[in-house]
Amino acid sequence: MALGNHNIVAMTIWRPDLAGRTGPKFRQIADAIGEAVAAGRLPRGARLPPQRELAYGLGVSLNTVSRAYADATERGFVAGEVGRGTYVREAGPLPPPEAEIASLARPLAGPIDFALNLPAPGEAAACLAETLRDLSGSNCLAALLDYQTEGALDHHAAAAADWLRRVGLASRGEEIVLATGAQHAILAALMATTRPGDVILSEALTYAPIKAIAHHLGLRLVPLAGGDGPLGPDALEAACARFSAKLLYCLPTLHTPTTRTMDAERRAAIADVARRRGLVLIEDDVFGFLPAERPLPLAAFAPERTIYVTSLSKSLAPGLRVGYLKAPAEHARALRAAVKLSSWMPPPLMAEIASRWIADGTADRLSDFQRREALARQATARAILPPGLVEADPGGFHLWLTLPPQWRAEMFRMEAQSRGVKVLVGGAFAVDGAESPNAVRLCLSHEASRARVEEGLVILAELVGDSGAAGANVL
Ligand SMILES: Cc1ncc(COP(=O)(O)O)c(C=O)c1O
Repeated sequence: MALGNHNIVAMTIWRPDLAGRTGPKFRQIADAIGEAVAAGRLPRGARLPPQRELAYGLGVSLNTVSRAYADATERGFVAGEVGRGTYVREAGPLPPPEAEIASLARPLAGPIDFALNLPAPGEAAACLAETLRDLSGSNCLAALLDYQTEGALDHHAAAAADWLRRVGLASRGEEIVLATGAQHAILAALMATTRPGDVILSEALTYAPIKAIAHHLGLRLVPLAGGDGPLGPDALEAACARFSAKLLYCLPTLHTPTTRTMDAERRAAIADVARRRGLVLIEDDVFGFLPAERPLPLAAFAPERTIYVTSLSKSLAPGLRVGYLKAPAEHARALRAAVKLSSWMPPPLMAEIASRWIADGTADRLSDFQRREALARQATARAILPPGLVEADPGGFHLWLTLPPQWRAEMFRMEAQSRGVKVLVGGAFAVDGAESPNAVRLCLSHEASRARVEEGLVILAELVGDSGAAGANVL
């Protein structure tokens, strides 16, 4: 990076304000740098104080300041050149301003949140600023304030088809339906294919809101046998023999909460059972963009009966509220009707932003960032958590921590919370009638910084091995 005319004046007076901060000193300093950059107190090009001087001024070791500067560099606030010092980045997007961090609920201090399965905040806000600038000079704003025309929807369907090719799924325009995120897509899929009283099947542990959606639609959600094991053709066959089930909702890639990915052979076997039993498949693939290598979607094994669902919430940003469905034409018609009934269409402005990002490479850049973050954060987790207890994919957002017998999941959650770390208990994912596993799900992606992920993992690793605390809680 070129370091041009640096604003040295600001730096002769700047000192990080560490009052009220907690956690390791190096993190406090890096957080203070980030906040000062975001608020403009440290302008672009400003030079940070020499490390030795700052160490002396703050009464900390030189090593602490070096770690703080390295952390701030990794987080994209500043850049350094050997022998020339460390400067606020002059080019490229800067971290979001404080207010934005707060509104995204990704604070740089306070409880560490491993409960929410959201993407890491990267450059998406800066990309949005650029796209909004472009849009403001375009002649399509009036159209974006209207209901979408068929032409606009075709244009977005083409972008969606382009995006689905990234996971190996070929589709024709008439097979694509737009929704307002994956949650809405799943609701629309169930509205389009079921009637009150129908039995639908799912893995015993599954994406929790399905339970509420099924309840609201008057559907009977039946968990497949096999506990928290991977979805198997035998269990599916047995459930089909026992219940006259209409449909299976499943998460074949990076299953939540267990992180497992079904291999190609099993996908073929599931497709085979579904075909023989006349089952509709809803494949939720919101995490499917993450693994570097993955089997083809279930939709490629049973295209005539699979409603494939994804969204941009995990790969780009959850606030985009754009979801994509791919289904055989007969289902696609019913899906379009269900989308119209429940929301008319995804917000035109958001669909336009998504299509532009897919076309101009922004979506690839942002999702690459998520992949890199996931790999780095999972590597940290492997180094910190006891290996025998963890199930994880090296490229996934979340991991599944089975607790040793001295812990009950709910107690562990409460104790972790009291130490400043939020997790979700396995029971939250259990469909009625399925067993609640003694495990917790940790999502590593939501926190703004890798350093906070590391801090939270160290706390949990200590807790897992802390039989004393578990005993104390039983009283
Ligand atoms: C497995 C799974 N499916 C669907 C969704 C819904 O995503 P969206 O934000 O696109 O509605 C989520 C969000 O957490 C999820 O984890």
